[in-house]
Amino acid sequence: MFNSDELTRIRKDFPILQTQINNHQLVYLDNGSSAQKPKQVIDAVGQFYQSEYANVHRGLHHLSNLATEKYENVRGTIARFINARKESEIVYTSGTTEGINLVAYSWAWSHMEAGDEIILSILEHHANIVPWNFLRERKGIVIKWVETDQYGNLDPTDFEAKITDKTKLISVTQMSNVLGTVVDVKAIIDIAHRSGIPVLVDASQSAVHQTIDVQDLDVDFLVITGHKMYGPTASGALYVKEDLLVDFVPFKGGGDMIGEVGRDKITYAKPPKMLEAGTPAIAQMIGLGVAIDYVTELGMERIKEYEESVKNYALERFKDLNWLKLYGTPKKQAAIFSFSLGEIAHPHDLSTILDQRGIAVRAGHHCAQPLMEYLGVNATCRASFALYNTKEEVDKLVDGLVLCRKLFQ
Ligand code: ALA
Repeated sequence: MFNSDELTRIRKDFPILQTQINNHQLVYLDNGSSAQKPKQVIDAVGQFYQSEYANVHRGLHHLSNLATEKYENVRGTIARFINARKESEIVYTSGTTEGINLVAYSWAWSHMEAGDEIILSILEHHANIVPWNFLRERKGIVIKWVETDQYGNLDPTDFEAKITDKTKLISVTQMSNVLGTVVDVKAIIDIAHRSGIPVLVDASQSAVHQTIDVQDLDVDFLVITGHKMYGPTASGALYVKEDLLVDFVPFKGGGDMIGEVGRDKITYAKPPKMLEAGTPAIAQMIGLGVAIDYVTELGMERIKEYEESVKNYALERFKDLNWLKLYGTPKKQAAIFSFSLGEIAHPHDLSTILDQRGIAVRAGHHCAQPLMEYLGVNATCRASFALYNTKEEVDKLVDGLVLCRKLFQ
């Protein structure tokens, strides 16, 4: 939990929160899409470009060595953050999308054949659907879906019911970006492992709200994305359990992932480098390291506790709005709420009116169209909270919704 002084200090770390939007102080509730950046991250990226910039792994000069050291140190930062056994289990990526595509092309492609099955949940966002659809289109893989109950809960035993001797992978989110459902991925992993099936956990929403421990989960693949974790865009990581990493084949070819290149024969570096071709997002990964240091210093458990208190406050306030349609009331929920005014107003209009009061929410399908179809809607509004959001901002959201309701009545 944060006290009010600490919260004030945290908010000061995020300069954008002082911005005026339409003559109102910004209330940023679109963190599920991308979180704002603390000045520690902004300064680190600025300083790197201003006085430390060079390419990595290629030069013997001072700046290149410095850049390489700073860039490579982040691997340890990420490994500690998710409690990986080894730094070599961390593959740098541009985010969740690249991480899942890497598993699809560098691992699943050579481990699956026509008729093999992948189990997904209906909560997945497109980054955890479309790469598997490529395998469906190009290799004849079958995708099976596990649905939620009417409240948005996923039952791990429903995964068990879908497993057959053709099942080769379960790929599931740890937190719904639409309903805020916190999924019991540990139970799903236990079930999958009993049948020898590996599991990919999409932690792109969850990693910023709760502690991740890949050893405790015993997960096989896990993806995180930097820009949702107060870090720069185009930064992220794929965790691969060591014994599975040796099965990966390179997906992108180019510099930095090779052993030796001859005219007729090429050898590759060992993983994870083998999977990191080309000049990487150096400044972004350095920024991600600083973002992880920032949340680690605050403490993930304290962040979770604070966000939980804001979530509970929001749920209490929403009770007064008996005309507000909330999508999903899962037993375990993060501070992510999807809502609408039903037939009264389109979510896009709701979002536009809230924006007039400086309140940023996302409206649309949230890159989760199968879930939208399951919920029977084309769009919802979504308010997704971060560690810098306050109960006063919940009040502003509620006031904005009351105004919307009056305007459309
Ligand atoms: N998956 C991102 C979101 O939830 C883009 O908005």
